[in-house]
Amino acid sequence: MLVTAGATREPLDPVRYLGNRSSGRMGFALAAAAREAGAEVVLVTGPAALATPRGVERVEVERAEQMHEAVMARIEGADLFIGAAAVADYRPAQEAPEKIKKGSGPLTLTLEPTPDILRAVAARRPRPFVVGFAAETTDLLEHARAKLRDKGLDLVAANRVGPGRGLEVERNSLEVLAAEGEPVSLPEQPKEDLARALIALVAERLEAGGR
Ligand code: CTP
Ligand code: CA
Repeated sequence: MLVTAGATREPLDPVRYLGNRSSGRMGFALAAAAREAGAEVVLVTGPAALATPRGVERVEVERAEQMHEAVMARIEGADLFIGAAAVADYRPAQEAPEKIKKGSGPLTLTLEPTPDILRAVAARRPRPFVVGFAAETTDLLEHARAKLRDKGLDLVAANRVGPGRGLEVERNSLEVLAAEGEPVSLPEQPKEDLARALIALVAERLEAGGR
């Protein structure tokens, strides 16, 4: 299986980047749980201050573009893909070759879209079983359902994010949705336990014949 984790960093100039608050903890916990369950695991991660889980192959990237390339180069033959990374949706249209100097007025940045890795994996034929995350501050289930449908995922794990929730914290809860059936609620617990529960759900579906 392949799992993405952590935040990407989109460079602005040699010393600055656009990033986000993802620690990588959920993705690393998923890699560890899948390995424990017997999977051969490749973990493609943005910069994260976390130890590589035992038996897991770690591939380090910085930008969304590099994460996309690293995933596409390794996806062939994978049975399962989990997109747990908080991938930047936009990057600075220009990367300044030298440090941007302070001016007197406001600074305007132009951003351009990055590749959607999850969507790209789900569009492949043949394709692995594809699990996405949906990080939302409002209308959790509605937004998650839309992502499931729109990206053609097998499962989506929806989590509320915001101050003290979802990112930069040790515990989390998830609502897991498939195209059919009721959402499965995984109650608030340490991310390591949550990861084991999600891997067990995925394994059940894979054994039942995938999608
Ligand atoms: N994702 C990805 N590549 C991107 C953006 C997102 O692979 N360029 C993946 C994430 O890893 C996650 C899922 O898509 O599994 C949903 O990410 P999220 O940010 O919640 O949704 P988006 O589709 O980016 O929509 P928005 O940010 O507008 O809510
Ligand atoms: Ca996004």
